[in-house]
Amino acid sequence: MLETGNKTIEESRQGEAYGFGILGENNGYSKRFYIESYGCQMNFSDSEIVASILNGEGFGATRNLEDADLIFLNTCSIREKAEQTVRKRLTEFRKVKQSKPSLLIGVLGCMAERLKSKLLEEEKLVDLVVGPDAYRSLPNLIDEAETGTKAVNVLLSREETYADISPVRLNSNGVTAFVSIMRGCNNMCSFCVVPFTRGRERSRDIRSIEQECTDLWNQGYKEVTLLGQNVDSYYWVDQQSGDAFDFAMLLERVALINPQLRVRFSTSHPKDITDNVLHVMKAHENICKYIHLPLQSGSTRILQLMNRPYTREWYKAKVAKIREIMPDCAISADIIAGFCTEEHQDHLDTLDVMRFSAYEFSYMFMYSERPGTLAAKRYDDDVPESVKKTRLEEIVALQNSLSLESNQRDLGKNFKVLIEGNSKRSVEHWMGRNSQNKVIIFKKSDSKDLKPGDYVNVTVTDCTQATLLGEIVC
Ligand code: 5AD
Ligand code: SF4
Repeated sequence: MLETGNKTIEESRQGEAYGFGILGENNGYSKRFYIESYGCQMNFSDSEIVASILNGEGFGATRNLEDADLIFLNTCSIREKAEQTVRKRLTEFRKVKQSKPSLLIGVLGCMAERLKSKLLEEEKLVDLVVGPDAYRSLPNLIDEAETGTKAVNVLLSREETYADISPVRLNSNGVTAFVSIMRGCNNMCSFCVVPFTRGRERSRDIRSIEQECTDLWNQGYKEVTLLGQNVDSYYWVDQQSGDAFDFAMLLERVALINPQLRVRFSTSHPKDITDNVLHVMKAHENICKYIHLPLQSGSTRILQLMNRPYTREWYKAKVAKIREIMPDCAISADIIAGFCTEEHQDHLDTLDVMRFSAYEFSYMFMYSERPGTLAAKRYDDDVPESVKKTRLEEIVALQNSLSLESNQRDLGKNFKVLIEGNSKRSVEHWMGRNSQNKVIIFKKSDSKDLKPGDYVNVTVTDCTQATLLGEIVC
């Protein structure tokens, strides 16, 4: 997979092990669990729910595999490569278990449903298999597995949102946190396995979302990202009052918790994001001016085959609307190269929409056929691997130049930056983000006593394609 600025950051989290974080007190736990997470932010957020449930069972987190009584892999099925990585990791864990037979190994998340019998019976790689809606049953499943029985629960639910479980923020920087607002997806994009692995869409009680965000603010967090596969279809009805809440209303309620609490959200579907949401974003300075708006393809014919109900013109009009309402709003996309039947002209259409949209960054993938999806059933995966690769390279090259141009446009501008921590390269520099989600690196000030979680004004003095470099404005 090819790397670009923003995607590299996500890639670097793959396989991240959770351990002691700012709040992750490990004292007092008699047993230890080790968890690695793969895939999307939703999975990372789910691992924090799992951590909370395991803490309740007397398991504390460890980053050392050797100390663990329980090892979990929170898995992703979205592309074949993600599954291969997990299988390789399981084989390594199996070896650890040979020298420690009491060790339990579990697979959580999206691969659980897809591969339960294979992992448990054929390959005998794991002791527990638990799907994304079954984490409440972990205590019972662990008890079962401890007796030597293989423990499985991959049932999907129409209601589960884990609304009442307070996630344990283990690997947190203490500044930014993810808050899940809905689960599952009803969209059935033909290439996508998520509706099968994560089930039907359901929205979480608005009061519990507000409460979680308020708690985070009270604990010193400065930024929340509202997470869902398709946040714009958030819809929750208070059964007692009959009041209904959509995403624009939720966004506004969270923004009103405190003007110093930044609010982000992901992911938006181009067909569902409303002008209302755009106006709420514009009205509140603390709602970040950044929208992740997956394109997938710029060809109307391919979009139809993908079961994405918009045309290239419609998508472009949505981008134009965003730029009209919020000229300073950054936009990013997901793009798939080489979907079934894709011709050269379709590929050119994708490049054209990319140029029109002038994305700040993109997540770019080669199409990977997933068993059970509509595309796998209906269409041939007929674009040769070499063609997919060339097209992806062209898409990445274009995105790289768009990202650089976008960063160059920021030279000389001032941004309000939220400091997240030290720069990875130097402790003499801070790393933070502006509202547009761009990373800014700048030298620490001798005269200012700043710390992570502080806001600071920064002028952009230089840039690369991936990063802005700046100086604190006195
Ligand atoms: N092949 C390639 N990319 C995929 N995505 C989802 N399914 C596939 C697949 N089968 C990408 C889409 C989606 C992102 C999360 O992953 O671009 O928006
Ligand atoms: Fe998959 Fe489409 Fe749902 Fe995104 S919107 S999770 S791509 S089915």
